[in-house]
Amino acid sequence: MSDTPDKPTEKPAERPYVLHMFTASPQMSPFDVNMAADAGYQVIVPYCNVEARMVANLTQDAIFSRGPKGVSRTGIFIGGRDVMLAADMLDAARKAMVPPFEVSVFADPSGSYTTAAALVALVERHLAKAYGMELGGKRVLILGGTGAVGRVAAAMAASLGADVSIASHAGHARAASVSEEINQRFGILTKGVSTATQAERRAALAETEIVFATALAGVQVASTEDLAHARHLLIAADVNAVPPEGIAGVNVVNDGKPIAGHANAAGGSGATDAIGIGALAIGNVKYQVEHRLFIRMRTGGKPVYLGFPEAFDEARAVAAGLD
Ligand SMILES: NC(=O)c1ccc[n+]([C@@H]2O[C@H](COP(=O)([O-])OP(=O)(O)OC[C@H]3O[C@@H](n4cnc5c(N)ncnc54)[C@H](OP(=O)(O)O)[C@@H]3O)[C@@H](O)[C@H]2O)c1
Repeated sequence: MSDTPDKPTEKPAERPYVLHMFTASPQMSPFDVNMAADAGYQVIVPYCNVEARMVANLTQDAIFSRGPKGVSRTGIFIGGRDVMLAADMLDAARKAMVPPFEVSVFADPSGSYTTAAALVALVERHLAKAYGMELGGKRVLILGGTGAVGRVAAAMAASLGADVSIASHAGHARAASVSEEINQRFGILTKGVSTATQAERRAALAETEIVFATALAGVQVASTEDLAHARHLLIAADVNAVPPEGIAGVNVVNDGKPIAGHANAAGGSGATDAIGIGALAIGNVKYQVEHRLFIRMRTGGKPVYLGFPEAFDEARAVAAGLD
């Protein structure tokens, strides 16, 4: 019998990939939990009702316990419903890092960054493909534009130089206040329009070249008769996957095909070219963007901070790969 004590034979286990998920809402989105797991996170912990002032402490609590090597296997996700608050929380987490104790952070409140990114990237793609045009200078109307997806889509399209109108079915005051809020937060120029009445909705559509529908799921914001007034329409893109169609005639699987019935309804020239982009075509790109961003957090080799500009870059890359 030897005097030397037994040497441990077990190799230390590889540290698991840990994702801390912060949300200001009472619960974390199951969709995002599934997406994180499918992208390789092994331990996923939701933190609910998180206020912006709590983010710095939570972040520092997450970064110091695993050593510089462990931080590369640790990430933070920011969810919630409020797109401005999530942008602020992303900034707060970034500022709380103490290099080399620094982890990746990804914000996608209510899926709005990745959904809006997919929507705008697909519109860009079809505008170039079907018409040889760019989004810059185009008149864009966002029906249901005061919600999470609408606000981010507005910020993205306006950043690309589009002339963006954010519509609210609750009236002009609501549309104008949301437009003002995002203009100030993101340094862009949009305006608010009321679509509270049929006449207002049709007047707004008559001016528009591109319409996005980003209203509450299961709500139709433009009927076939409404669309007939959109005589300059090039593209109608609808993120709503729950029947009825958000924009009548834009089927969920449409990915750049003519809008059924639009030419007849418009009864004239110019409208015959309008094409649709449906919710499942947008959802397909959104899914890939979110997956790729989670993978980038885990495998990039250095900490990354992923907000909606990064989501948009990724969506453009996914859209470019569709051809
Ligand atoms: N395709 C995808 O991959 C994907 C992914 C995520 C989300 N989505 C969809 O994206 C859409 C927007 O999501 P969100 O979270 O941004 O929605 P949201 O914030 O819940 O609602 C958006 C807006 O809808 C408007 N609205 C509410 N009730 C309405 C009604 N009866 N008639 C007309 N407008 C009404 C509201 O604006 P006003 O009261 O100011 O008019 C609200 O701000 C939803 O349809 C959601 O299912 C799709």
